[in-house]
Amino acid sequence: MSSKQHETIYLEDYQPPAWLISHTELRFELEEEHTLVRAQLSVRANPAVADKRMPLELFGDEAMELCRLSIDGQILETCDYQRDAGCLRIQNVPEHFTLECVTRLLPHENTALEGLYKSDGMFCTQCEAEGFRRITFFPDRPDVMSVFRTTLVADKARYPVLLSNGNPVDNGEDGEGRHWVTWDDPWPKPSYLFALVAGDLALLEDNYTTLSGREVALRIYAERKDLDKLDYAMQSLKNAMRWDEGVYGREYDLDIYMIVAVDFFNMGAMENKGLNIFNTSCVLAHPKTTTDLGFQRVEGVVAHEYFHNWSGNRVTCRDWFQLSLKEGFTVFRDAEFSADMNSRTVKRIEDATLLRTAQFAEDGGPMAHPVRPESYMEISNFYTLTVYEKGAEVVRMLHTLLGSELFRKGSDLYFERHDGQAVTTDDFVAAMEAVSGRDLSQFKRWYSQAGTPLLTVSDQYDEHTGEYCLNVRQSCPPSPGQEHKQPYHMPLAMGLLAEDGAELYAGCLELTGEEQQFRFTDIASRPVPSLLRGFSAPVKLDYQYSDAQLLMLLRHDTDGFNRWDAGQRFCIRLLQEQMRRYRAGEPMQCPDVLISAWRELLTDASLEPAMVAQCLELPSEAQLSELAEQIDVTAIHAAREFMRAALATALEQEWLQAYQRCDTGAAYAADAASMGRRSLKNLALSYLMLTGCEPWLELARQQYEQSDNMTDQLAALSLVAHSGFRETGAELLQAFYQQWQHEALVMNQWLSVQASDPTPGALARVQALSTHPVFDARNPNKLRALIAGFCARNLFHFHAEDGSGYEWLADWILQLDRRNPQIAARLLTPLTRWKRYDTERAALMQAQLQRMMDTAELSADVYEVVSKSLM
Ligand code: PHE
Ligand code: ZN
Repeated sequence: MSSKQHETIYLEDYQPPAWLISHTELRFELEEEHTLVRAQLSVRANPAVADKRMPLELFGDEAMELCRLSIDGQILETCDYQRDAGCLRIQNVPEHFTLECVTRLLPHENTALEGLYKSDGMFCTQCEAEGFRRITFFPDRPDVMSVFRTTLVADKARYPVLLSNGNPVDNGEDGEGRHWVTWDDPWPKPSYLFALVAGDLALLEDNYTTLSGREVALRIYAERKDLDKLDYAMQSLKNAMRWDEGVYGREYDLDIYMIVAVDFFNMGAMENKGLNIFNTSCVLAHPKTTTDLGFQRVEGVVAHEYFHNWSGNRVTCRDWFQLSLKEGFTVFRDAEFSADMNSRTVKRIEDATLLRTAQFAEDGGPMAHPVRPESYMEISNFYTLTVYEKGAEVVRMLHTLLGSELFRKGSDLYFERHDGQAVTTDDFVAAMEAVSGRDLSQFKRWYSQAGTPLLTVSDQYDEHTGEYCLNVRQSCPPSPGQEHKQPYHMPLAMGLLAEDGAELYAGCLELTGEEQQFRFTDIASRPVPSLLRGFSAPVKLDYQYSDAQLLMLLRHDTDGFNRWDAGQRFCIRLLQEQMRRYRAGEPMQCPDVLISAWRELLTDASLEPAMVAQCLELPSEAQLSELAEQIDVTAIHAAREFMRAALATALEQEWLQAYQRCDTGAAYAADAASMGRRSLKNLALSYLMLTGCEPWLELARQQYEQSDNMTDQLAALSLVAHSGFRETGAELLQAFYQQWQHEALVMNQWLSVQASDPTPGALARVQALSTHPVFDARNPNKLRALIAGFCARNLFHFHAEDGSGYEWLADWILQLDRRNPQIAARLLTPLTRWKRYDTERAALMQAQLQRMMDTAELSADVYEVVSKSLM
């Protein structure tokens, strides 16, 4: 049994802070062996809280060394306060006072990457959600907002660059080669937005003039060797600033905006006020080393963190249950930005696919929680697809229900009402209610109920009266702690198409009841409904389409998203049929209708290549797993591989033509049209390779050798490495390693390609890679590349019948938990889904979870996930 009891925190227990901090003055003495932090807090009683005798409550990590504590200059002895598990309480404090606190930290020993730590020789911080309490004792909760002034002192030669939030206001030399800089951030902020960086960094500088004429210096810092990889992030930042002014009327509010790239980072990036800290994977981009997906990620994440300056920083969260207030809204904002910068339909397809694959799986698993959770043991476990992506879908539905004009009015009102405050998702919805005059109380169930709703739709058509009737039923399965669900309020965007594809109706229905009927009159012939256009709500849709109807929609729907979706539905149906045949020992088949539909898409030069590529990509094994009653890993893999091979052979000429059409020979450009061409070209190459014919191996090798960009080079590499041409595969992997061994991000791709190689011997390969010199178990990016590469992108081998994949993962989790609990808990996800598998696999997975549970001293992070999975 785990010796430590981990406490559960409940939303309903929320109490406003008894004490407020108006000013926080920090001084960091950064040295090689340790760092001394002196914090001076101006504390006053919260006038909104009646009881003035509440103790002052400061959070501070158990392991943190407290050197001195004083109130108005009076040193406190250990008998003057209580310190226990993460909390320090002082009784009988005056109504106003200055608290001084000195702590001693060991950043170089901080492997959890929370609080102050070292990444490749530079100091940096990560304070969201509860990292500030690893720096000093503080009311480390988002509803305590304070003005920060920070001085950094460090060796000048080693750490010439000293950064914190706000503007630099003073600096000087201390003698003995040390220097100092003082930063002042005028905007009150919660401690989770504090940041500092000290290091020897190179910088790309630019500037931006806001709509109202404020001059802003834009600085992106990175290691000197990466200076040539910062232009795209800079351009994305400027685009995001312009976009937020135009679409939301939001301007930047400081003189400097800084981004720092660090190689050791648990997440993607962090929106610290004026000083974003980024995982290198989300900021560095160069055509030679970064794939198109990487470029899009940089653009999206740079925008996301910038947008947080309003949705998160100026208006922040009252408590961590409100996390989606900032994350859901900001993801919605960045998704719309990316849609405006690139192809709107493709962006929507990508987001819907992520939701349907991973968020739906989360919603159906043991860690399912509402967009606004009701309880947690460790808040780090709630930075989830539900809070982020489903939360963004909830905001999108508000946008759809209100329309963009009212939505903008609501957002203006929200920012105006709550500027400088820490608020709740209810406050956000209240602003939308105020501007629209609508009652959104039923809508708010999206925040409080977990689980993925199901829409069951049927229809009748009366050819005498010309009346068409849609019946829509909604339901939502139980989730942990929520047996019965109330009906949701949601937009159902839809159209009606005549048999020949002519559009008879287009509009948006509103669902509120458990069962509703919608009548359409004057419909000349039986229409085909195009339902849930643009994925207008994060739900599953069940309507008994005929094959012919799906193929008609694939050809003619006026909604691009639903064209794609009709094709996907058709493929899913065919794949499920092949899975059945595989299990029954019957031969699998690839029907001619599919081949001809694909031929049509593939040869229609009027279609956007990016869309064609999306349509011709079969649903992933992960998505087929999510859809399965019980997940049969072998049948899913066999059916999908069979279908891919059949489509490869039947359309070999067309794949080649598509390849040649998209292979324009133009120099690399990172625009949407060029990216679309590359995606279709590489998809075509993947099908050609599946035929197993030598000439296509040659084509892939040629592409590998001659491409001027990482997208094409990596695509060719992974196709060859995953093919039956093992020798050439090994040769290219070796060449790739030789060429790129000094580029950390490229080496992550190299690890990931090998970890996801579906050919036999996969586990032995990842085991060997874990001792390879480029692998570093302290670096989260490396862990994600290797471990998630195998456990999440090589499902067939991870789920090997003998349980070897499960044991390997559990070994890693136990080892990592002592070093970096956040990462350990995240990588654990695949095991939590054990109940979805056949009894043998489920038992093997459960046994590994139990083995972890029986380990002494699990972190709260891993304990929460493991214990909930075993319930
Ligand atoms: N708040 C960050 C974002 O979404 C994510 C993050 C959370 C980063 C926790 C680090 C730690 O932009
Ligand atoms: Zn965010």
